[in-house]
Amino acid sequence: MKLHGTMKIENNQLLIGDVSVEQLRAKYGTPLYIIDQTHFAEQANVFLTNFRSEKFQTHISYASKAFSNLYILGLAKELGLFLDVVSGGELYTALSAGYNPEKISFHGNNKLPEELEMVLANDIGRIIVDHYTEYSLLSALAAEKQKKVKVLLRINPGIEADTHKYIQTTGKDSKFGMSIADPVTYVLLKDMNSDPWLELEGIHCHIGSQILDKEFFFREAAAMFSFARNLLDDYSIIVREINLGGGFGVYYTKEDQPFDYAEFLAEYIVEIERIITELDLTIDTVSIEPGRSLINASGSTLYTVGAVKQPYQGKPFVFVDGGMTDNPRPALYQAKYEACLANRMQDEVTDNYRVAGKCCETGDILIQDIALPQAEPGDLLLIPGTGAYNYAMSSNYNRIPRPAVVFVENGQSHLAVKRETYEDLIRNDQKYFADNSMQKL
Ligand SMILES: Cc1ncc(COP(=O)(O)O)c(C=O)c1O
Repeated sequence: MKLHGTMKIENNQLLIGDVSVEQLRAKYGTPLYIIDQTHFAEQANVFLTNFRSEKFQTHISYASKAFSNLYILGLAKELGLFLDVVSGGELYTALSAGYNPEKISFHGNNKLPEELEMVLANDIGRIIVDHYTEYSLLSALAAEKQKKVKVLLRINPGIEADTHKYIQTTGKDSKFGMSIADPVTYVLLKDMNSDPWLELEGIHCHIGSQILDKEFFFREAAAMFSFARNLLDDYSIIVREINLGGGFGVYYTKEDQPFDYAEFLAEYIVEIERIITELDLTIDTVSIEPGRSLINASGSTLYTVGAVKQPYQGKPFVFVDGGMTDNPRPALYQAKYEACLANRMQDEVTDNYRVAGKCCETGDILIQDIALPQAEPGDLLLIPGTGAYNYAMSSNYNRIPRPAVVFVENGQSHLAVKRETYEDLIRNDQKYFADNSMQKL
């Protein structure tokens, strides 16, 4: 297993942030999400220091859908990251964490009227408009509230990135944004540009997630900046800001060979500056929105092995005390992971297993094939690379409480999210009464 961030091995035990995961189990129980705080801060700095230009401002906007709670957003704020949110709930979390509203962008393909009202009431920095109906609604609400609002339009540049089809976002039939090829896109931009309640700052795009070939990002930038030039030439629309989204791929297993972010970001800036000069554009701000690449490698999930079971046929199972409820990605899109026995890091690797969760679903298999030392009940199984889209996508299927989230740094651990309790599970439930006295609406 690849060791990420501050992971190291001492006395056959795995340590993260100089804390042994055995100690973490003793203090917080399992399953447990562990976040390497030092590593997250380092990753943020890679983006903040390498995606910089003398010619325009740059914003690194953390895509909080990857992993959001008060603790991580407090940290992201302190590190100087801007923020991308996609729902009233994510916005509420960001505001509760004390985020400066001006640094927040609000996304989504079906923003609810009450979400748009929340955005207006809180003077959120940018709304990324997705389509015509949303624009009309936003314009009417802004007029009603007498509030001007800064907007970008989400453009679908038609760059088909090579990734799982569930995380592609730019096919011509995609649900996101307005196609660069669609004449309606130009009509919408003209209307947005002349709307008295909207300040059209520019355009946005996001071509998909877990993209491992950096060439797609260069093609995306070329398409977006030349689109900005067309808007100026053909419609006198001035694009001051371009947001190029996220999607930078990460390492899950040896099959993934992500590019070096520092190197890529520096090259990306040079290329963007070149394109801007070549097209003779004046751009104030270029933003990117990394989620997975910022947080994924900092996160791991720690489980306790309950049993090792040899079925009548096939590879043996290692059963863990979590599963698709804390990590639905393998069931959703065949995501692959590495793993280790964190309490026996240097024991000889002898056996091949399937790692299965405790949910009543045949598909609740976290790893289809992993070589480990001979596993035993009570062992600690750790799956690294679970920082992004794990806690964020977790569920209470089978009424399983969500795990706690703990941050580790310099030999210390900080509880960021408490483990859910059984009481939490029924908090919003209403009891049935045998006399059938239904609540009147
Ligand atoms: C609009 C937008 N921006 C940014 C992201 C973050 O992508 P990633 O986590 O792959 O960097 C996403 C993810 O789906 C997105 O939809």
